[in-house]
Formats: sequence, C-alpha cells, structure tokens
Amino acid sequence: MCGIVGYIGEEEATPVLVNALKKLEYRGYDSAGIAVLGGGKLVVKKAKGALKFLEEVLAKETVRGSMGIGHTRWATHGEPSDINSHPHTDVSGKIAVVHNGIIENHAKLRAALEAKGVAFRSQTDTEVVAHLINSHYQGNLLDAVVATLAQIEGSYALGVISEDNPDQIIAVRKDSPLVIGAGKGENLIASDVPAILEYTRDVYYLGDREIAILYRDRVEFRDCEGKPIEKTTTHVEWDVAAAEKGGYAHFMLKEIHEQPKALTDTLRARVKTYATKAINLEEIGFDASWAKANRVFISACGTAWHAGVVGKYAFERFARIPVDVDIASEFRYRDPIFDPNDIFIIISQSGETADTLAAMRLAKKAGARIIAITNVVGSTLAREADLVMYTWAGPEIAVASTKAFTTQLMCVYLIALQFGALRGTISESEMGQYLDELEALPAQAEKILENKEEIQRFASLQFNKTKAFFMGRLFDYAISLESALKLKEISYTHSEAFAAGELKHGPIALVDKDTLVVAICTQRALFDKMDSNIKEVKARGATVLVITYEGETYFDSTTNGTFRIPRTNDAFTPILSVIPSQLFAYYCAIQRGLDPDKPRNLAKSVTVE
Ligand code: F6R
Repeated sequence: MCGIVGYIGEEEATPVLVNALKKLEYRGYDSAGIAVLGGGKLVVKKAKGALKFLEEVLAKETVRGSMGIGHTRWATHGEPSDINSHPHTDVSGKIAVVHNGIIENHAKLRAALEAKGVAFRSQTDTEVVAHLINSHYQGNLLDAVVATLAQIEGSYALGVISEDNPDQIIAVRKDSPLVIGAGKGENLIASDVPAILEYTRDVYYLGDREIAILYRDRVEFRDCEGKPIEKTTTHVEWDVAAAEKGGYAHFMLKEIHEQPKALTDTLRARVKTYATKAINLEEIGFDASWAKANRVFISACGTAWHAGVVGKYAFERFARIPVDVDIASEFRYRDPIFDPNDIFIIISQSGETADTLAAMRLAKKAGARIIAITNVVGSTLAREADLVMYTWAGPEIAVASTKAFTTQLMCVYLIALQFGALRGTISESEMGQYLDELEALPAQAEKILENKEEIQRFASLQFNKTKAFFMGRLFDYAISLESALKLKEISYTHSEAFAAGELKHGPIALVDKDTLVVAICTQRALFDKMDSNIKEVKARGATVLVITYEGETYFDSTTNGTFRIPRTNDAFTPILSVIPSQLFAYYCAIQRGLDPDKPRNLAKSVTVE
C-alpha cells in the first residue's frame, strides 16, 4: 500500500531513491515520484505507471542533490495519474511530502484550506498535509509538522522535506510502517527494511506517532508533541541477497523454492534437543499458564487467515480445545465474548495489516492474551502482542504469499502441539513422533520442487480454463481456500474453493466442460467421500486434477491427472499440498503472459482498511 523512501547524505540522492523504490514496488505500482533538494532548489519529478516510467523521465532530465524523498503509489484517493502521484507540494512549491496511508478527515481539512484560498492540484488526501505544514510554517519545519499532526486523523507514514531546511528530513508514522536506516554519514527512511539493506543493516523502528528528524550525521527522535525521546537501533540479520531475485525469473518462484530452508529455520528456532526432543516456547514467554485457556481465537486476513483455518483443525486435533477462527476485517466489528484466560492468535506476514492490527487491539482491550505470528521483526504486531513467534522466512517480496504461509503453518503446529503437551492431550512419545514428522517436511518439500515440471506441464494444458474450483475436506479444505486465492490473484482465473461436501448444495450448478477441478485428497479417512465428489464433477464434464500421496492409487481411475506429494501425518500435509498449487498458479500466470510478482490491483502490505 504505497512505499515511501528518503535519503540524506553525501551521495547523489536520485539513484539511491530510485534503487530503494525498486525494492518497494511490490507495495504499489500505479505511479512513482521523487523530490530532490540540491543547490537550494527543490525539484519534483513524477510519472504515472510503474517505476520504469519515472526512470525514463529521470534519464532525460538529471536531478541533482544529496537529499530527497520518493514514493511508489497504490491509489486510494484519486485515480492513477501524473498529478495524483507523490510527492505533493504546498502552494509555494517549497515543501514536499510523501505519504503511505489514508488521511481520513482530508475532505474537511481540504474544504477549510480552500475556504482560505488554497488551490489544490490533485484529488489525493495527501495534498492537505503539504498545505497544512505550509500554513503552520514559521521557520521551523518540525514545529510545523507537529502542529499538522494535531489536525490529521487516519493512518500515515510521512516523509517531509523543505527547501528552507536543506539539512533535514522529517519522518513520522501512525498505523503505517516506517523504518529509519542509520548509515555512516547518511540516513534513510523506508516503508520496509529490504529497501535500505544495501545501505545499512542498522534500523530504528518508529512507534506510532513518533517523529524522526534525519540529519546527515545523526537521527533525533521526538514524540508527537515535539518532546525528545530516545530510541535504539536494531541490527537486521537479513542480507542483501535475500531481497534479490538470485537468478530466478521472479521473486515468487524464488520464494516458493526457499520454503525448505524457511521451514527448517522456523523449526530450528523453536525445537531443541535436550534429553529428548522438545518444543521450546518458554524462550518467547509461553509458559504453562498459557495452556490454561478455555478457548483459542485466531484471526488474520487473506493467506494468513488460511493458516488460521489450518490452525483451527490442528488445535482441535492436538490440544482438544475449542477454536474460533475469524477474518480480521470481520472480527474487528464483532462484539466478541472473551474469558480472562482466552488466547488470541493473530497471524500476519507483514505485521502491519490495518484490519489485523485492529482485530488484535480489540481482543487485547477485551482482556485476551495475544500471541502474534509474524515475519517482520519489530513490526507493529510484534511490538503490541504479549508474545511473538517469528516465522523465519526472510523477506517476502512477491505480492502473493508463499513461504510466509508455510512457515506460519509451522508456527501454528508448534503452538498447537505445545498446548497439547501442556494440557496432557498428547503424550511424550506422540510428541516425539510429531516432531520427527515436522522435521521431515523440509526435505519432502524439496522433493515436490524437484518435480515442478509436472505441474508446469499441467499448467501449460489448463491455463486457459475459465473456471477453476478447488475442493477438499478438513485440512484439505483449508488448502483449497489458499490454492484458489493463489490462482485468482496472479493468473486472474476465476477460481473458488469449496468444502467438497458442499458442492451439491449449490456450487455444482457451475460445473461444466470448461471447469477445472483440483481435488486435494490427503485425509485418508475421507478418501471414499472425496472419490464420490470427484465422480460427481467428472460426470458434469469437469477436468479433474488430484493432489494426493505418493503410492496412492485410490483415485487413479477417476482423474485426468494426479500430482503426488510425500506421505506425512494427515494433519501436516497442508505444508506440502499447497506447494503444487503455488507452482500451478505461478505457471498459469506465466502462460498468460502476466507478471506474477506484481498482480493488478494488489499490493503486498494492506495498511489501509
Ligand atoms: C495473498 C496474500 C494476502 C495476505 C494478506 C494479509 O497471497 O499475500 O492475502 O496474506 O493481505 O497480509 P499479512 O499477512 O501481511 O497480514
């Protein structure tokens, strides 16, 4: 949802800003722009469309200066256009602002400014910020920003520069992500760590309504009233290569291939061998008191919610505890009933999704104890939860989530198993067996990836289907949801997921010879039920692909194709069965000539409601 960057140092700012924006394009690619201050003059350049169009503009007209801000846009207020591109400037053209988020009271503020004669140029909510800062400016940029913050409502990460203040960038955030990179003789701002990794690995995470003032040689911090505050840097372990394509055609393919390693890293962080192999969650603060809960709530959005659906089945199976799983954008408007011991598990790759944060805050206010599963160290979710379990997936750049999902599943299993161990619903020997099975998964995932050409071939035959349905039962239903989402978001195929038993209650009316049905069949106790469902859709002309275990012949006579995954515990198959679906979606997008890393209308981090 928009990416913002800023640089102040000794180097030319333009190449640094463009380079950093390239790493943030996954957050939006409706337009891009920069404002650079050099020789006492502020120069703004912008272009509609992907960053490459801005680069074309900059190739024709060099913009020189050693400080500046930049933006890549995912349009909310105002269509994608040159005029609506950021940075936005005030009437004097001396103050420039980049913004990620939504200024909710912009219409009222705009009307008040227009009444005073301010002429707006764009339809954006952001432009009011530039004009407000100008209206408060009396020689001190920080004071003007502080006064502006008192007037604006909504979510924002802002970068502000002014021609009259050639030695500082002011950055501030509320409910939108922002990191400050601390370099040597140079400092940076960015919406996300990968954008600045090439320049520094030492970052400050700004808290809500905290302000950073970046000079060339230092960074100072203030609260939203302008009072000084102290902050310390965090050293980021990710290396630059982790945020590059590393020889793969797309980030998505690279990230699919990184799953075995990511799963190993996530598992290794939490499973230790002392006398026996055991899950160690005590290090992150999960002691026996957590297992006294009578109920678990899980909430998240999109793919992360699908990890929550798997979590529901896993908690029921291993810990025998009732679980409520809810989409965060729904949960935040519910009136949920919590008991004091209830636990709320919140899942988010970015740790910054607006609805997810709102759901967590509602649960916290209602008295629940919060466990966050997130991939981003220092994210808002991580900072506000009572306990954090990180997915050690490394930076996920492709818009469609892959390795974050499978590592979220790993975390969910580990928590469910530990709950079970503490509640006495699984024995020590069962725990040993489950951990062995989890430890086998990375190598099994690798085996699936070695067979990716099979999926590629199937995609080359089926990518033109107008409808694709994914069906399964229990854990396989959860993966049907995720598979249908992957396919629709990057290949634009109309795809839906169904609990296989629901088919005849309506959806089967849609099945005809143009329909692809992918039946995920790994729940051994339900094979006969799935077989009947496959026959039902075949009889209506559908082409059927089955995803099932190696050596399994149950469905051979009924299907048009079978993709086999290694055998594991039926409860753990989601980590494996989703991989063919990720690959299928990827190859369908390629066959259709689409860029899987940048699907239309989407952005990686949904920081607006
Ligand atoms: C789909 C996808 C999204 C995200 C969702 C939540 O591939 O990535 O559905 O899962 O927007 O994002 P996070 O996990 O960052 O809260």
